[in-house]
Amino acid sequence: MNLDHLKPKITEIVSSKNETVDKRLYQVCELLEASIDYYNWVGFYFKNGDKNELKLGPYIGAPTDHVIIPFGKGICGQVALSNENFVVPDVTAQDNYIACSITVKAEIVVPIFVNNQNVGQIDIDSNTANPFTKADERFLEFVCQRISEILP
Ligand code: SME
Repeated sequence: MNLDHLKPKITEIVSSKNETVDKRLYQVCELLEASIDYYNWVGFYFKNGDKNELKLGPYIGAPTDHVIIPFGKGICGQVALSNENFVVPDVTAQDNYIACSITVKAEIVVPIFVNNQNVGQIDIDSNTANPFTKADERFLEFVCQRISEILP
């Protein structure tokens, strides 16, 4: 699926200086969830201060119990350490996976870098099996790059 048509809207949301950063991040979640049918939970996790754990940021989708995720745990915690995109076509095939909802079949996590430091990530769950392609990775890298420019 070509996702490039969403890029101008992402840039517009991210650069709307009248809104708080959290509001802009939430609006990015809203846009992605509403525009891409296989994006069913869209949210951000950020490094929690100087702790080796992630804390849930703005998100859209079913509420999750996983507000804090230790580095190394689950797909998100692994990305906090690997600094690499993690595409999971089938969550049942993963041993180190934290289930948020039984409807979720696949997940993609893309890290956010500020000054080459991995400060957080965008996390997307899909209720469709194996939906993510290189186009999602490239598009989400664009989203994370834009967002990195407004983080403190
Ligand atoms: N599935 C993630 C946990 C976060 S939820 O998807 C919202 C993981 O394994 O890290």
